[in-house]
Amino acid sequence: MKAKRLWRRVPTPLALLVGLFLGLFIGRILPPSLFGLSWARPNTPVFVSSLSARKHFTLPNVDQRKRVLELLSTLSPYHTAECTRNSQPLYIQQVRDRYKPLVASRSPSSPSSWMPSLGLGLSDPDGVYVSPVREHKYYFAINLYNSFDIIPDLFATLFRVSAILGYHNVFVSIYENGSNDQTKALLRIFDSITKSVGLRVTIRTSTRTRGAFNHRIEYLAEVRNQAFDPLHELRDANNEFFDTIIFMNDILPCVDDVLELIWQSRRNNAGITCAADYVYHNDLNTPVFYDNWVSRDINGTALENAPFENIFHDPDSSERFQRHLPIQVQSCWNGVAILDPAPFYSPPYVRFRMAEIVEGECSASECSLICNDYWKAGYGRIVMVPRVKLAYDRKVFDLIHPPRKNLTAIRGYVRIGGLPDDPRYDPQDRSWFGPHDRVFDAQENDEIEFQPGPSHVWCWGWDGAGDIDGPDVDPIWEAMPKRSQTTEAVTVKHDRSLDL
Ligand SMILES: *[C@@H]1O[C@H](CO)[C@@H](O)[C@H](O)[C@H]1NC(C)=O
Ligand SMILES: *[C@@H]1O[C@H](CO)[C@@H](O)[C@H](O)[C@H]1NC(C)=O
Ligand SMILES: *[C@@H]1O[C@H](CO)[C@@H](O)[C@H](O)[C@H]1NC(C)=O
Repeated sequence: MKAKRLWRRVPTPLALLVGLFLGLFIGRILPPSLFGLSWARPNTPVFVSSLSARKHFTLPNVDQRKRVLELLSTLSPYHTAECTRNSQPLYIQQVRDRYKPLVASRSPSSPSSWMPSLGLGLSDPDGVYVSPVREHKYYFAINLYNSFDIIPDLFATLFRVSAILGYHNVFVSIYENGSNDQTKALLRIFDSITKSVGLRVTIRTSTRTRGAFNHRIEYLAEVRNQAFDPLHELRDANNEFFDTIIFMNDILPCVDDVLELIWQSRRNNAGITCAADYVYHNDLNTPVFYDNWVSRDINGTALENAPFENIFHDPDSSERFQRHLPIQVQSCWNGVAILDPAPFYSPPYVRFRMAEIVEGECSASECSLICNDYWKAGYGRIVMVPRVKLAYDRKVFDLIHPPRKNLTAIRGYVRIGGLPDDPRYDPQDRSWFGPHDRVFDAQENDEIEFQPGPSHVWCWGWDGAGDIDGPDVDPIWEAMPKRSQTTEAVTVKHDRSLDL
């Protein structure tokens, strides 16, 4: 369904730098809002599992980590680091300030030094150990299938993102179904490297094929759910809970793309947060927005496979989209999605599923249905982040992220008394397809004002009976339940906000 990935072979100096700088900001104190989880049972030690899991190997020091990072980066011959190469100084500064609240506050290699320095010697009246600081925990769920080419990049990105979030705060679950291209062998290599630095990874493989399922969406939902198995197992076995889920398909976001999605997800306490993905349109000769099967604006209308000014029908959303500002939507996925795990842990226990066809539900994508289920569960804060532009191949990646030009040198506009050479007013950052190191606008920091969901959503069903590679049922306006249309559906239920 997706174009062949052919990513660029470039090493990774800036990403490495950003990762190291951020990873080394140690000793921050996280806010009390992150201490507890509403669904965690009281008086139970949330840290136990990760502590005992880490006993099995000696944690490497900073130098050793750096060596592994360099190894992973050179093993990554294709793409992802390109995006943060040669970033402009103002952007690097902004990135450091912006993502500082995401940086893990304690170094796992010095476990004794961080606790006293917090000055929060909480005593536990019931004599059960409760960690004084509970850091935000991230669960990466990844589905792979014949992904040999992208695995080095994927792990390099995971490794760098985890350096920032804290290796001890990250769990990676990879579910691979029946690849026949040595994906499994490569996964095993990366599995051992990442384990050696204390990043927890589980890789599971299935040989089940679609034949075991009657309905295509049922099969796809099953594949996605398998990546969540460890989430439930860790809860059942160790009472370990995660605060944020990052769900990735075989797309390759840059380190700062992942960080921005996490940042927006927590800034907005969003149920689901997605990027924007692009493919090349051969008739229009330009990249166009891709995932219109899942994406719906806040009026319930489908987004278009069209150039940027025509993607959204809802006028306010379109305006925000063209200014690269985060937008509330009814539904989206677009290659990477950040999920609030709360509806997975507590009733209604959301999972990926196919439509209840006997109940008359439209046979939408498992990703649309999970958005609908988030609305019904009261987690309808769904956000699309247009700044994060993803591609499935190098051609589109280069078109949507052209290299930055030095306009001062080109026009000499300082010399001729034009605009000052101020990166904040660089016109390239206002154009739609612009350099990856686009300077942040102040409005990108604002929390979105969420509104209730639409009464109807455009649904294009896919019964998947035949082998047609796309929706095969006439589209309809599907009525949404009353609860999704109330402000209650968008109030914050689980506070994951950042200490800004
Ligand atoms: C594996 O899952 C993907 C979807 O994640 C699907 O496209 C692919 O056909 C599946 N492979 C097999 C062998 O079933
Ligand atoms: C752009 O070009 C001008 C003039 O050649 C130079 O002074 C300036 O340092 C350049 N800026 C960057 C970011 O390279
Ligand atoms: C908004 O949704 C309604 C259906 O509820 C649809 O008829 C209308 O065309 C949509 N408006 C826009 C601007 O997409």
